Amino acid sequence: MEDLSIHKIINRAYDFVEEQQKLLDDGAITEEQWFETHNRFCTAHYLAADNPRGQSGHSGDERHYFQTHAMLLQAIHKNGTFIDVGCANGYLLESLDRWTKSLGFYELEWYGLDISKGLIELAKQRLPEWTGRFFVGNAFTWVPDVPKFDFVCVKELSYVPKKRRRAFLEHVLQHYVAPGGRLILGPNSERQEARELENELSAWGYEPSGNAERTHPKHKMLTRRLLWFDKP
Ligand SMILES: C[S@@+](CC[C@H](N)C(=O)[O-])C[C@H]1O[C@@H](n2cnc3c(N)ncnc32)[C@H](O)[C@@H]1O
Repeated sequence: MEDLSIHKIINRAYDFVEEQQKLLDDGAITEEQWFETHNRFCTAHYLAADNPRGQSGHSGDERHYFQTHAMLLQAIHKNGTFIDVGCANGYLLESLDRWTKSLGFYELEWYGLDISKGLIELAKQRLPEWTGRFFVGNAFTWVPDVPKFDFVCVKELSYVPKKRRRAFLEHVLQHYVAPGGRLILGPNSERQEARELENELSAWGYEPSGNAERTHPKHKMLTRRLLWFDKP
C-alpha cells in the first residue's frame, strides 16, 4: 500500500504509464502508438489546467514549484544556450529566465522542444519573443537544425519506452550537447536510498560529473535529485 502511494507521489500518471508499458510489452501496441498515446494523454491533462504551472505538468503552487526547480541553477556554471527537452508550455524556461536575470546570474539563451504540437503552440503564444526557439518533435528522433546546446535539460528518461532509455540518452548526448556542454537529468523524485537513476546510468557506463538533491516535501523516504554529465 505504502509502495503504491510512493509511486503515485513520484508520478501522478503512474497507473497510465504502467498500463501502456504492459500493452507495449505484450505486443498489443507499437512504439509509435505508445508515443501517440502518451502525447495525447499529456497534452489533454496539461491543457486542461487553469494555470501555467499546471500546463507544464506541475501540481503545486509557486513556492513548491520554486523549491523543486530552482535546484537547476546549481547545474548552470557558464553563459550559453539551454534547451528544455519536453518543455511543455515553456514555464520552466520562463521561470529560469526570470530567476537568472533577477540574480544577475549567467546569461542564457532559452530553447524548448516538445512532442506536443498543442503545448508548443501554447508556449509560442505565451512567450512570443522566443517563437523561433520552440520546436515540435519526438526527442528520441529529433535532431536540431541549430548549433548544439551548452545545457540540455531532460527531466525524465521516461519520455521513451523503458527498453529505449539508453538509446535515448545516447541520442541526446550525441546530437544535442555541444562539446564542453552539460546534460542535466532531473529534477526527479526517487527513494532516498535507492539511487535508481544513478545506478541505471552507471550500469551503462555513465558516471555523473555532479549532482544536487533536496528533501522531498511530500514524503520523508523520497528525495529530489538532479544529475549532470559533462561532455569533453
Ligand atoms: C513533466 S513535463 C516537463 C515540463 C518541463 N520540462 C518542466 O520540467 O517543468 C513533460 C513534457 O515532456 C513532453 N514529452 C514527453 N515525451 C516526449 C518526447 N518523446 N519528445 C519530446 N517531448 C516529450 C510532454 O509532452 C510534456 O510536455
